[in-house]
Amino acid sequence: MESRRFLITGGSKGIGESLVRLARTFGHQVVFTGRNEERMNSLAAETGAHALRADVASAEDNVKTVEFATEKMGGIDVLINNAAVAYGAAIGEIDMEKLRAQYDVNMFGLIDLTNRVVPAMKRQGSGDIVNIASTSGLKGHANGTAYSGSKWALRGITQCWQAELRPHDIRVMCVCPSEVQTGFNEGVKGDNPKKLVADDIAGSIMGCLSMHPRGFIPEFAVFATNPW
Ligand SMILES: NC(=O)c1ccc[n+]([C@@H]2O[C@H](COP(=O)([O-])OP(=O)(O)OC[C@H]3O[C@@H](n4cnc5c(N)ncnc54)[C@H](OP(=O)(O)O)[C@@H]3O)[C@@H](O)[C@H]2O)c1
Repeated sequence: MESRRFLITGGSKGIGESLVRLARTFGHQVVFTGRNEERMNSLAAETGAHALRADVASAEDNVKTVEFATEKMGGIDVLINNAAVAYGAAIGEIDMEKLRAQYDVNMFGLIDLTNRVVPAMKRQGSGDIVNIASTSGLKGHANGTAYSGSKWALRGITQCWQAELRPHDIRVMCVCPSEVQTGFNEGVKGDNPKKLVADDIAGSIMGCLSMHPRGFIPEFAVFATNPW
């Protein structure tokens, strides 16, 4: 793949951090966002990626993110919508404020940022958008109204964007990882060598992106082979 300009949300740790590292290893330009400035500055210094403290739930920050990416790289070829949070609660016990706060990140913020990136991609007549969903978006589970619901929605939105953007030579793909050993939601501990790690997801995404632009992979899931 020739050198491309990546914007990765939530690059300060986990899957996003792996994507930043891998994209830089392959010689791509990278801007990434997050909120933990200490981690972001150290990753930026180590990799040569450009870090911007920006909350994807904030429209004001999303404006700044696109401006910053344009200033640092001259445009965006690959948008990876990775940042997300999870709120788990059973129906009957849901705190609607917490549910809305999660949707502000996983859904409304993601749409707002993409809405600001797509016009330039249309003008340049190319681009890749990668939405990180989850296997929670393939099968519902207890306490999943907020998180699983947002990931199901993301899969549906991905299909809408594919219908709209394929005629502009813009590829939109959806990735559904199973459990990955990151600090996500403080629920997954990095102590099982048989379970997926962030590099597995980053590597599979970079592989799909390297496909010739005449084709693309609309959606794929990543499972641990034998996590038991
Ligand atoms: N880990 C899993 O088991 C798993 C499985 C399936 C899918 N996923 C999905 O994979 C993606 C990455 O998850 P992960 O496991 O790498 O999680 P993680 O280690 O918790 O990393 C999440 C990243 O998102 C950023 N972030 C969170 N809220 C943000 C906001 N409002 N604005 C900007 N950045 C924000 C965090 O940055 P700061 O902390 O600096 O804000 C961090 O860089 C998510 O979409 C998640 O739903 C994860």
